[in-house]
Amino acid sequence: MAKVTFLPSGVTCEVDPADYPYGDHGLPGSLLDIAIRNHVSLAHNCGGVCACTTCHVVVKNGEEFLSEMDEDEEDRLDRAAGLTLQSRLACQAVVEGSGDVVVHVMMTQEESGGH
Ligand code: FES
Repeated sequence: MAKVTFLPSGVTCEVDPADYPYGDHGLPGSLLDIAIRNHVSLAHNCGGVCACTTCHVVVKNGEEFLSEMDEDEEDRLDRAAGLTLQSRLACQAVVEGSGDVVVHVMMTQEESGGH
């Protein structure tokens, strides 16, 4: 089991990789997949296919429990506003193993104009 906390809302979710995928947005077990399952508002204007930057999150803790960033994510992320060394795209970063992951959501669904 892993634990994911989404800031600034502070919602903490317990996740079990055996239950992936939760839905059909983002990679199975991605931060976006987990957020949607737990009703955490996280923008995902392209639907979770690494084609926008609205699902940008900044990892505050537990980046070692996230999948490695691939080239597509890296290229896409380069265009994100407010990019940091701890930035990830929530639809591409998959929670692996069991640990505490804490991420800061940069844009909610409402802020992105999504539903
Ligand atoms: S939702 Fe568009 S890149 Fe993640």
